[in-house]
Amino acid sequence: MDSGEENDIVCLDESFFINDNYQIARFTFGSQILELYCLQSASTDFDLTGQMVWPGAELLNNYLSKNSDILRGCSVIELGSGVGITGILCSRFCGEVVMTDHNDEVLKILTRNIELDDSSKNSACSAKLKSAKLEWGNSEQLDDILQRHPEGFDLVLGADICFQQASVPLLFHTVKRLLDVGLKKKCRFILGYVSRAKVMDDMVIGEASRHGLRITEVAGTRAEIRNLGGVIYEITCP
Ligand SMILES: C[S@@+](CC[C@H](N)C(=O)[O-])C[C@H]1O[C@@H](n2cnc3c(N)ncnc32)[C@H](O)[C@@H]1O
Repeated sequence: MDSGEENDIVCLDESFFINDNYQIARFTFGSQILELYCLQSASTDFDLTGQMVWPGAELLNNYLSKNSDILRGCSVIELGSGVGITGILCSRFCGEVVMTDHNDEVLKILTRNIELDDSSKNSACSAKLKSAKLEWGNSEQLDDILQRHPEGFDLVLGADICFQQASVPLLFHTVKRLLDVGLKKKCRFILGYVSRAKVMDDMVIGEASRHGLRITEVAGTRAEIRNLGGVIYEITCP
């Protein structure tokens, strides 16, 4: 006879676990005030880390708002955008911003935040904000984006996207392609990195060099953020 465990069919789909009770939250970075939908804590059943704002986004947004010249007139692609707080800030200064994520649930809230931003009074000075599905290492999805941007982007951005060891090599694979395509534009990758484990600190440096990229710490950006150590890295093709 089969054990009870083997016969145990669970009739729940993933929507049962998804908390989409988003609330509008307000964030200030320098002179920029952003309002967007997010959760205050992450769901753990699926990869829904992107439903909330992470310390790395605060770190990167503070850096970008203090150094907004970096963004002026640029075309930007953001990886692992989550609710979109970094891309939306950039749109105040940039020519164009494509925010990407791999999670369909996260892409829904990202789209909702783009619509919210469009309808706000700031939209007049906002760049065109777009969203696109992009799983790191997925060449087809990246080809789709690059078909629409054959010259590539001026900047690749990522906030708090190095937290799972298995995805870091794939992330750098995608970054390398974007930097190669944007070579003429001297494209660079700006990463808001938050340290949670030494193994990840080493892996980020190691994967950048394994992909033939130069990684440098931006001077003066080491900071403590929500009790964690953070730093801004700039990653380029040498
Ligand atoms: C910790 S959250 C950071 C979100 C946002 N950048 C922030 O700092 O608030 C990581 C984000 O990366 C996305 N992500 C994780 N693994 C990914 C992968 N393999 N490909 C694309 N996006 C991924 C998640 O869906 C999530 O939105």
